[in-house]
Formats: sequence, structure tokens, C-alpha cells
Amino acid sequence: MGQLLQHFLLKCLLFLILSHFLTQCVSSVLRSCLDSERSALLRLKDSFIVNRSASYDTLAYPKVSSWKLEGQVGGDCCSWDGIECDDNTGHVIGLDLSSSFLYGSINSNNSLFLLHHLRRLNLSDNNFNRSEIPSAIGNLTRLSRLDLSWCGFTGQIPYEVLQLSNLVILDLSGNPLELRNPSLKSLSERLLNLKILDLDKVNVSSTIPQSLANLSALTYLSLEDCELHGTFPTSLANLTQLTYLSLAENEFSPATLSWLAKLTKLTALNLDSTNSYGEVLSYLKNLTKLTDLRLPYNQFSERIPSWFGNLTGLTTLVLHSNEFWGSMPKSIFTLKNLVDLNLYGNHLCGTYKLESFLNLKKLEWLQLSSNHFSLLSTTVINVTVPKFSLLTLASCNLSKFPNFLSSQDKLEFLDLGGNKIHGCIPKWIWGLSAQTLQVLNLSENFLTGFDQPTVVPSWTILRKLDLSYNMLQGSLPNLPASIYQFFVSNNLLKGEISSGICNLTSITVLDLSNNSFSGMLPPCLGNLSESLLVLNLQNNNFSGPIPRACEKGNTLRMIDLSQNQLNGRIPRSLVNCNMLGFLNLGNNQIEDTYPSWLGRLPELRILILRHNGFHGAIGEPKSNEFPKLRILDLSFNKLTGCLPSRHFQRWKAMKVVDIGKLRYLEADISFEVGKRIWVLDFSYSMTMTKAGVETKYERIQDFLVAIDLSSNKFDGCIPEDIQMLKALQFLNLSNNFLSGPIPSSLANLSNLQALDLSRNKLSGEIPQELVQLTFLGFFNVSHNQLTGPIPQGKQFGTFENNSFEGNLGLCGNPLSKKCYPEGLSPPPPSLSKKDDGEDSWLQFGWKAIMLGYGSGVVNGLVLGYLFNPMKHKLFVKYFGRKMQNRRRGRMN
Ligand SMILES: *[C@@H]1O[C@H](CO)[C@@H](O)[C@H](O)[C@H]1NC(C)=O
Ligand SMILES: *[C@@H]1O[C@H](CO)[C@@H](O)[C@H](O)[C@H]1NC(C)=O
Ligand SMILES: *[C@@H]1O[C@H](CO)[C@@H](O)[C@H](O)[C@H]1NC(C)=O
Ligand SMILES: *[C@@H]1O[C@H](CO)[C@@H](O)[C@H](O)[C@H]1NC(C)=O
Ligand SMILES: *[C@@H]1O[C@H](CO)[C@@H](O)[C@H](O)[C@H]1NC(C)=O
Ligand SMILES: *[C@@H]1O[C@H](CO)[C@@H](O)[C@H](O)[C@H]1NC(C)=O
Ligand SMILES: *[C@@H]1O[C@H](CO)[C@@H](O)[C@H](O)[C@H]1NC(C)=O
Ligand SMILES: *[C@@H]1O[C@H](CO)[C@@H](O)[C@H](O)[C@H]1NC(C)=O
Ligand SMILES: *[C@@H]1O[C@H](CO)[C@@H](O)[C@H](O)[C@H]1NC(C)=O
Repeated sequence: MGQLLQHFLLKCLLFLILSHFLTQCVSSVLRSCLDSERSALLRLKDSFIVNRSASYDTLAYPKVSSWKLEGQVGGDCCSWDGIECDDNTGHVIGLDLSSSFLYGSINSNNSLFLLHHLRRLNLSDNNFNRSEIPSAIGNLTRLSRLDLSWCGFTGQIPYEVLQLSNLVILDLSGNPLELRNPSLKSLSERLLNLKILDLDKVNVSSTIPQSLANLSALTYLSLEDCELHGTFPTSLANLTQLTYLSLAENEFSPATLSWLAKLTKLTALNLDSTNSYGEVLSYLKNLTKLTDLRLPYNQFSERIPSWFGNLTGLTTLVLHSNEFWGSMPKSIFTLKNLVDLNLYGNHLCGTYKLESFLNLKKLEWLQLSSNHFSLLSTTVINVTVPKFSLLTLASCNLSKFPNFLSSQDKLEFLDLGGNKIHGCIPKWIWGLSAQTLQVLNLSENFLTGFDQPTVVPSWTILRKLDLSYNMLQGSLPNLPASIYQFFVSNNLLKGEISSGICNLTSITVLDLSNNSFSGMLPPCLGNLSESLLVLNLQNNNFSGPIPRACEKGNTLRMIDLSQNQLNGRIPRSLVNCNMLGFLNLGNNQIEDTYPSWLGRLPELRILILRHNGFHGAIGEPKSNEFPKLRILDLSFNKLTGCLPSRHFQRWKAMKVVDIGKLRYLEADISFEVGKRIWVLDFSYSMTMTKAGVETKYERIQDFLVAIDLSSNKFDGCIPEDIQMLKALQFLNLSNNFLSGPIPSSLANLSNLQALDLSRNKLSGEIPQELVQLTFLGFFNVSHNQLTGPIPQGKQFGTFENNSFEGNLGLCGNPLSKKCYPEGLSPPPPSLSKKDDGEDSWLQFGWKAIMLGYGSGVVNGLVLGYLFNPMKHKLFVKYFGRKMQNRRRGRMN
């Protein structure tokens, strides 16, 4: 019995120990990971695919790929990447899948929303494929931090977000979302615990609600590009805890920002692009804790106030693209903590020793370009100078290379363009900041040569070198293998281009135009079309055949080989250049039949083959020909046969009248190095006969539509089909053998500004209907066999004798030959009615076009850099914010 008891007790003990062990075991399993949450996570993982283009961050990686089932218990999901569990309960309380290459749609059925214990959720920088924010988000009521920034969410922010009353951080920035119903007002009435609120790019489209002042715990508020308008309620002065405030890119009334003066804890303030002006500055006087002040793209047109010198903590002072004028207050030079000083694009003046800036020892970014400064590059001896990474001193009247540069070893970007630097490029330039320099601009100076022409540059990551618009002599300098873009146009360089250039396998832009290079083009140049976007060899003395481009790769957007002595045929391989938008082979000695096969290039907008030896008839059209062509110049060749009437029907882009915003035809040549994106465009340029005069178009508007078939041997009639090309502005058919009448249907080309039919064998009368062409500024039918009265009225009142001379049968004004005997009046012109509304619309078109011609841009090269206002905006829109966010980090 005792033994039995003993046995029983022993068993009990064993059981207890075991069961204790078991519960231990079970509870430890519990604490590590709950089955239900593990399976929810795995289903979450399966609901997306990993897509490398879904995240932008250079540190992005697919966190979910480490999530797997392991062993019998299934794997401890608490140890998975991006998961945080509660130590006591084992519930998943944090999920960070930011920058994880997640791609796919998400809705309320997603198992994510079963994780009811979540307190922190970060899905930033993925791509949820334009999903709406699922309303089930409202079930995650314990959330205190929610980051859904840059995720590709669209639509209205669901009301359920406002149920998350524990939120301390809410970041919905960078999504094309709407916050209208619910509104910013309802949000600020509900989420009273918010300390960080970031709604950049969310369409709020409202005035600023009074209730925003309820969020008195806010330390960080960013409302960039939210379409805020109207006035600010002064009670916003209650947001006294704010340390970061950005209202950039909104159109509210800046005069109502006086409450800013009360936010004395502010360390960062961004009023970029807010139409702010003078008065606003006075609100900032007391904000002595500011370290980061950004006021670019505004309308400040006064002196820089001297009290800026009292903001001694400033590390960033960005005032570019305003109208600040006058000299700089001395106090600016006392801001010893400045790291980033940007005064680019104002009207500041004065003569300064470079040393004054160099005394600001912490400077890394200094931008003084495009003011009226005169900088004296004194010789700086043995003083420590700042290590710059970005230095723009363009148009600063520098007369020599500042010698302090030679010891700079951290420069990434150096712009000395548009100065007055004479003489040779010193040897040390070719090794300047050899490990870091990405962009070097020495264009528009008076540089004459290279100190040591044979020196091999030691740059390792130099991407862009601009030496254009100087007086450089000698042969092509050596280039580093890293180069993407090389500009040396408008110099006096000569000699042959060796095949060594083909070693530059990363090159995207090669611009050697307007020099005196000669010899044959190395055949291997054609292979560079695997990387080249832009090849510009215009106006040199190159001879021999055109290299066979696009045989393998085809990235080319622009080929300009015009004004050389190239000969032979057009290489048939060009038909593979399926990104090509611009092809100019004009003014060469090419002997070929009409290259109708170029019509297969789907992107071709501009084709110029003028002044060559193209011969033969144009032949029958192909089905889908030149779908995007807007400008065709075949003038001065030997083409024969009828005008390509059946082709006209197919040139779709010439039928579309598109007078929208002023845009230029250009190739996007932006590139990225590390986290920097250099936003650049290369504008197409061309020379064409415009209104009888050879005209150089430095830039070409995208709605310009022109056909020039002049000076060939075309015969036959002017086809009626030409009237389909409604967008046509310039039509030149002069100097051919065209016969028959001028079709009255030409009057349907209502955008026509210049019509040249001179030097043909046209007969009959000038159709009266042409008087309807209200924009016609140039009209020439001289030297034909026309008869009858010249149409009178409207534009025809402006044409002179030489428009009509050489037609023995024409009569009436402006010719002296009268049509009717003295005393009899001419028959009334048969005009169709035109309303004034349309006229004024067209008037606009005319003006816009004139603007384009007048552009003073050198050689059609538009450099966006980071600083071109429009491009800057694009840059910021697509990439900039992300980088800024990363740079500035987050408080808390
Ligand atoms: C990857 O994402 C891009 C957009 O970021 C999308 O266009 C593409 O279709 C996606 N690829 C796949 C395989 O889903
Ligand atoms: C969620 O799943 C249910 C049942 O499968 C389905 O009826 C419903 O349409 C789904 N909802 C969404 C938003 O896909
Ligand atoms: C979310 O909450 C609603 C109502 O409280 C409930 O009907 C729904 O099932 C919940 N959804 C999830 C995924 O828990
Ligand atoms: C989300 O993750 C990103 C990238 O890791 C980080 O920069 C950001 O601060 C996180 N958001 C929150 C609210 O913690
Ligand atoms: C702002 O603060 C004042 C004083 O603390 C308070 O009376 C007022 O109600 C607050 N305004 C708002 C809109 O919260
Ligand atoms: C700035 O501070 C001074 C003194 O602290 C105060 O008198 C003045 O009113 C403040 N200015 C503004 C604009 O708030
Ligand atoms: C700037 O500081 C100087 C010297 O401390 C002081 O006299 C001046 O009033 C301050 N200016 C402003 C606008 O606070
Ligand atoms: C330059 O300055 C350093 C330290 O200030 C000093 O040691 C050195 O002798 C100076 N060199 C010349 C040439 O003055
Ligand atoms: C180009 O590369 C080839 C092979 O890599 C080399 O032999 C040649 O010297 C290089 N030419 C130049 C000019 O660098």
C-alpha cells in the first residue's frame, strides 16, 4: 500500500514536473510566436511579389524573403526580419517592411489586418499598385506609429484612419491621396495625440482649418504640395511645440503667417515656393533656434536682412531663385555653422574676396551662381579652407582659377561656367577631387588650351565634363573611362577622332559640334549606340561614310551629323534606332535614294536631310509611316516625281494641332550617381529655311510643324491631300517643277504661317480662300505662271511685290498692274465667316511661337542641373523628397 502510494506520488511528481515543463515549453512557444499571427504574416508575404522597381531606397532589400516555416513548431516569426513581438504576450506589435520591394494590390481582406496588436506599422517605399488604403486599417486601433509614405496609394484616405486615436506618428506623404472627406479638419479633431504629421503631396485642397491648432503636441508638421489655400488662422500660434514646419509648394496667403513668430522652438522651416515676400521675413526675426531655413522660389525682393546674422545656429540657408538685391550684409559671414549656403539666382551684387566665404569653415555646399557678384580669387596661402562637395560659382566674374581649388579633394560638383577665365586649363584640374568629382563645368570662358595636353585624367567617377563655348585649340583631350556626358562644342579643336573614343563605353552624350575636327569617323563609333543617347558632331569637317549605328543596342535619341562632308549611303542599320527622335544629316554629301524606310522609326519627330544628294522618286507609302514626325526637311536634293501625296495621309502627328504649354523638343539625359540625380535635358536644334531666310532654331517647340521639300525636281500638281496636315505652320515647295493650280483647299491649313510656292510652273489664279489664313506672315508665289487678280484684304494687305513678281498674268495690289479699268471696283471677296474668338485663340498660338524663336539659349543646350526651376520641381516631385526625408532624418 505504502509502496503503491509512493509509486503514485512519484508518478504525480513526474507528471507535475512534466506538465510544468510542458507549460513552460508551450508558453515559451507562445511568447516567441503565435501560430495565427505566423500564418497571417506568411499570407501577407504571399499577397505580394518582390519587384525590384517597387522601392527607391538604395538600401532596400526584400525583408520577407527570410520569412519561412522552420522545424516542427513552424519557425519563430518574432525573429523574422522586420517583426517585433511583445516580450510578455508574444503578439506581433511592430511590423517594418519599409523599402522591401513589395509590389501588388492590397485590400481589407489582407491578413495584415488580423494583426490586431500592432503598435507600429511601416510600409514606406513599396508599391501597392494604386490601391486605396484599406478601410480595415481602422481595426488596428493600437497603432501609435503608421508610416505609409511613398507606397503608391491612391484615392480618398478612408474615414477609418481617424479611428486610430492612439496615433503619435502619421506619415502618408508621397502618395497621390486625397484628404477631403474626411478632411484635414476632421483629422485634426480626432487624432489629438499626433506629434508627427506628414501629408506631403496629399491633396488636401482646402483652407487651413482652425482645428489644426488642436494638435498642440505636434513637433513635426509637413504639408508640402497639399494644395492648401486661403488664409491661416492666427491661433495656429498654439502649435508652440513645433520644431519642424514645412508648408512648401502651397498657394496660401503668406501675409497670414504672422503666427510663425510665436513658434520659437522651430529649428527647421521650409517655405519653398509659397509666393512669400518681404513681410514674411519679419516674422522670422525671433526664431533664433533655426538651423535650417529654406525660402527658395519666392518673391523676396529686398536686401538680405542683416539680422540673419543673429540666427547663429543656421547650418542651412537656402534663398535661391528670389529677387534679393544689393550687397550681402557682413553679418552673413559670421554664420560660422553654415554647411549649405545657396544664393543662386538672385540679383545680389558686390565684389568679394573668395576668402570671406572660405572663412565659413563648415561650408560644404556653396552656390553663388547667377547673381551679379564679382569674386576675387586671391591667392589663399596656408589657411584651412572648407572642404566643398558642391560649389557653383558660375557667372561670378572670376578671371582665373581660384587656387584654393587645387587642394579640394571632396568636390562632387564644380561649376565655373560663364566666367572670364583666360588661358590654359591648368594640369591640376585633371586630377581635381579625383575620387569624388562627378560634374565639372568650365563652359563659356576664354580657355585656350590644356596645360599638358597628353595628361590622362585621374577622375574615377567623373560623369559630366562641359568645356563648350571656349577657345580651346589642339586635339580632343583624353577623357576618363567613367564619363557619361562630354560637351566640347563651340571651340577651335581639330584633328581626327581616334578609335580610342570607343573605349568610353558608358558615354551617353558626345557633343563635339562646331569645331574643326576632320577625318573619317571611326567605324566603332556605331557600337557606342549601345550607350549613347545624344551624338552631336554638327559643323565639323568629318568625311567618309556614316558609321553603322544601332546594329546591336539602340538607346539613341538624337543624331546630328549635319554640316560635314560625310558621303556614301545612310546605313540601313539606323532602322533599328527605335528610340530616335531627331535625325539630322543635312549639309553633307550623301548619295542615296529617298530613305522611305526611315518612316518605320516610331519615335522620329524631326528628320532633316537637306543639302545632300538624295535622288529618285518617293514612291508608295508604307502603312504606318512617321507616326510622330512633325518636321521634315528634304530641301536641296535631287528628288523627282510627284509630291508624296498619299504619304501625307499617314503623317498623323502633323494633323494634330496642339498648342498647349510651351515645351521644347529635347532628350532627357538625366543621370543618377549614388543618391544624386542630375536632371538634364538636351534640346534639339536645327537650321531651316523659315520665311525665305535660313534660320537657326536654338530650341524647337514641340508644336512646330513644318515641311520643306524645296529645291528638288518634283513635278506634277500640288496634291489636295496636303490639307489634311492641319497642324502645318511652314510649307515650302519652292524651286521645283510643280504645275497646275494652287489648290484652294490649302486654306484649310489654318495654322499656316509661311507658304512658299515660288519658282515653279504653277498656273491659274491665286485662290481667294487663302485670305482666310490669318497667320500667314510670309507668302511667296513669285516666278510661276499665275494669272488673275491677287486676293485682297487681311494678311494679303501685308505682302509686297516680291511675293508675286515673275508672274506675267497677275494683277492688282501690290503689283502696279491694275486688274480693272480705272473707276471699277473689284468683286467683293468671297470669305467664309470667322469669329473673333477663334482669332484670339490663334493669336495666342502666334505669340507662344514667337517666344520660342526668341530664346537666347546658347546652342540649344538647356542645362537643368539641380537648379533649373522647372526641372528642380520635377526632380523634387519624383525623387527629391525621398532624399530630403532621408537626409533630415526624423525627430523622435
Ligand atoms: C514591377 O513594378 C513596376 C512598377 O514599379 C511595374 O510596372 C511592373 O509591371 C512590375 N513587374 C511585375 C512583374 O509585376
Ligand atoms: C474579401 O473576401 C470576400 C470573401 O472571399 C469577398 O467576398 C470580398 O469581395 C473580398 N473583399 C475585397 C475587398 O476583395
Ligand atoms: C474589423 O472590424 C470590423 C468591425 O469592428 C469587423 O466587422 C471586421 O471583421 C474586422 N476586420 C478584421 C480583418 O478584423
Ligand atoms: C519607416 O522606415 C523608414 C525607412 O527605414 C524610416 O526612415 C522611417 O523613419 C520609418 N518610419 C517611422 C514612422 O518610423
Ligand atoms: C490656443 O491656446 C489658447 C490658450 O492656451 C486657448 O485658449 C485656445 O483655445 C487655443 N486655441 C485652439 C484653437 O486650440
Ligand atoms: C520678438 O521678441 C521680442 C522680445 O523677446 C518681443 O518684444 C517681440 O514682440 C518679438 N517679436 C515678434 C514678432 O513676436
Ligand atoms: C541681433 O543681435 C544684435 C546683437 O546681439 C542685437 O543688437 C539686435 O537687436 C539683434 N537683432 C534682432 C532683429 O534681434
Ligand atoms: C602651414 O600651417 C601649418 C599649421 O598651421 C604649419 O605647421 C606650417 O608650417 C605652415 N606652412 C607654411 C608654409 O607656412
Ligand atoms: C582602348 O582599349 C583597348 C583595349 O582595352 C586598348 O588596347 C587601347 O589602348 C585603348 N585605347 C585608348 C586610346 O585608351
